[in-house]
Amino acid sequence: MPQTSRITKAVIPAAGLGTRFLPATKAMPKEMLPVVDEPAIQYVVAEAAKAGLDNVLMITGRSKRALEDHFDRVPTLETILEKKGDTARLAAVQEASNLGDIHYVRQGDPLGLGHAVLCAKRHVGSEPFAVLLGDDLIDARDELLSEMIRVQQATGGSVIALMEVEPEKISAYGCADVTPVDGEDFVRVNGLVEKPAVEDAPSNLAVIGRYVLHQAVFDVLEETAPGRGGEIQLTDALQTLSARDGDGGGVYAVIFRGRRYDTGDKLSYLKAVVTLAVEREDLGPELRPWLKEFAATL
Ligand code: UTP
Repeated sequence: MPQTSRITKAVIPAAGLGTRFLPATKAMPKEMLPVVDEPAIQYVVAEAAKAGLDNVLMITGRSKRALEDHFDRVPTLETILEKKGDTARLAAVQEASNLGDIHYVRQGDPLGLGHAVLCAKRHVGSEPFAVLLGDDLIDARDELLSEMIRVQQATGGSVIALMEVEPEKISAYGCADVTPVDGEDFVRVNGLVEKPAVEDAPSNLAVIGRYVLHQAVFDVLEETAPGRGGEIQLTDALQTLSARDGDGGGVYAVIFRGRRYDTGDKLSYLKAVVTLAVEREDLGPELRPWLKEFAATL
């Protein structure tokens, strides 16, 4: 049965250890690393707000303070900027605290993405909700989340986002086996496998960090045993839901063809910063010629 309750809640897991980014992430969450001049997580919260999800639950862990502080008001700094008449910086400082209602819950132990989502059970209650990974950025000019919400409402199941990757890169991602749905621009997910070997991958469609989930996922996660890497995998719970008809079952996917930036590892983070900086009006005009000159010296 298609769902009718409007989706208003977004869950943002940000409790991972960020080991690929050590030592920067020793005392600071990787989601706080600046992408040009905003922490990665701010792009993600802004994306949720733009899709109408103004009730955000952030799953935090060790060294959570920076995340909470970033989305809080800073009266002393605001007063100083106000006195100086620095309205542009004042607006930039206030932007993060105006993005909506942000709640926090701690994931005591980083037992995996599935476990992080399960920490949202009480907050979310019995309504479908979105999950946005805090280190995965979708370009603000491209639509994804609103489309996924539409598909969730139309199907009543859960919805994931997929992107085509070069076949030899699929083992870095969750991978989906899909079938087209007649007359629709979304697909049905038949099965999911986390980080498959290239020769075992059912497709070159990689799972990216956006989900719109039916609340039935919580009961499934509670029953999901630790999988790959000893972690409770969201992919395993979705695999179970994909095989279920009705009762919140059924998993669908939107295939995203827009711009996505991964900030979770060093190389893709550097590419994300450069890509977004060259497009900025305040930085691009000086950065582009410098980059060309620099590239010529390589
Ligand atoms: P990742 O696997 O990319 O994050 O999880 P990680 O574990 O921090 O990264 P590495 O591999 O050690 O470098 C995807 C998202 O899920 C969150 C992470 O914070 C990230 O946003 N996550 C992961 C949790 O909140 N809890 C977990 O137990 C695991």
